Amino acid sequence: MTKARSHERPLGRRKGWPVSDRPACDFLLTGAGELVTVASAAPDLGVLTGAALAARDGRIIWIGDESRVTSEVKTDDDTTVVDAGGLAVLPGFVDAHTHAVFAGDRSAEYAARLRGASYLEIMAGGGGIAETVRATRAAPPDELAALARRRFDSFLRHGTTTIETKTGYGLSLEAERACLEAAKVEHPLRRIHTLLSAHAVPPEFAGRADAYVDLVCDEILPALAGEAEFCDVFCDEGAFTVEQARRVLTRAREFGLGLKIHAEQLARTGGAQLAAELGCMSADHLERATADDCRALAATGVTAVLLPGTSYTLRMPYAPARALLDAGVEIALATDFNPGSSYCENLQMAISLACQEGGLTPDEALRAATLGGAAAIGRRADLGSLEVGKACDLIILETESHRELPYHYGVNRVAAVVAGGRVVVHEGTVLDEQEHEHEHEPDGAECGCGCQTDETER
Ligand code: NIG
Ligand code: FE
Repeated sequence: MTKARSHERPLGRRKGWPVSDRPACDFLLTGAGELVTVASAAPDLGVLTGAALAARDGRIIWIGDESRVTSEVKTDDDTTVVDAGGLAVLPGFVDAHTHAVFAGDRSAEYAARLRGASYLEIMAGGGGIAETVRATRAAPPDELAALARRRFDSFLRHGTTTIETKTGYGLSLEAERACLEAAKVEHPLRRIHTLLSAHAVPPEFAGRADAYVDLVCDEILPALAGEAEFCDVFCDEGAFTVEQARRVLTRAREFGLGLKIHAEQLARTGGAQLAAELGCMSADHLERATADDCRALAATGVTAVLLPGTSYTLRMPYAPARALLDAGVEIALATDFNPGSSYCENLQMAISLACQEGGLTPDEALRAATLGGAAAIGRRADLGSLEVGKACDLIILETESHRELPYHYGVNRVAAVVAGGRVVVHEGTVLDEQEHEHEHEPDGAECGCGCQTDETER
């Protein structure tokens, strides 16, 4: 309780230290009970005690012993100083696989599955992804953007500072473009955009999957490739074949897109081997991957994105995380947030499931949710760990130990979130830009967002 109370007031600014040649920071974190850097080789998470962290223009410029802050870093009146009050500080989560833009409601499908209907049966009957496509196509742009913004708030509140987000519920050039635009709504959550136009065969192409693949290759990718970083294909039973996936991904590569694939989820169809053949950035799902698949991914440096929330929701096998790690594959943990197979923005839940059901240790799961996620989106150099030069994206937990994350499950353990060197979540609330920029009371009184201006308050 003492710790929690001490954390209630410290987010804010205080007057600076003496001016010198020391690098100037505009953000300073002190008081971390542990600073989990994820900056050392596995299995070590590089946990520092007594460390502080400084940033400027959204990038970390200094990490060192807190006793050295005043002699090594310069602050001024505009420096935001955050005292973590003895709590654990981690890199912001990187959720490398989400389908965050869609409209509609599939709770009835969920209930039908609990009564015994399978995901593939629902899909074959015109439900599933097709149901969401109908609702998404019918939604006006401002509704799609509002839905996206609300979900982005939720990701951020749960400690995720970067998501990869896919199109795939439009399935026509115009509707895919609308999904991409909604995904780009202004918001402090960092987003990496993926074209998943080959997510399902839309109803107007029923029975003509190859003709739809032509549309994707000849019209959708050429028009939208410049708006995204990656291309993905749902390569599976009931979706696209390996040959169709190869066509889409080969075409995407011509436009300079990085490649991703939904592979070996519902059935083993060969998507993992295709990922190895094409040198995909990531192969995602892999619930049915074999030892051979693990070796092929390891040999070609493809990151495996594991989505335990999907196995939980669909009551299907979990991906062979231990076999992937033993084979030398880098793994990422992601939510697969989507309205069908994993309706959850909380990566803490995926961490817990990966430990409880998927065979990972708490430290392995935490690495996979941060640095692993960064690897899966090709951003290992600037995201996913706390190192000088990287983005200042941080989570302050409600606890003094990061090990509590998988153990104390099903609740949000995040007390505050910093994205790009700015406090964006405090006490469960996403702060908007205005709240940060407002003028503080001259007498040092605490303002509505918990900031303070006078160091005597500390
Ligand atoms: O990753 N596998 C394909 N796509 C999603 C599910 C999409 C949906 O059911 O709406 C997934 O599980
Ligand atoms: Fe997915």
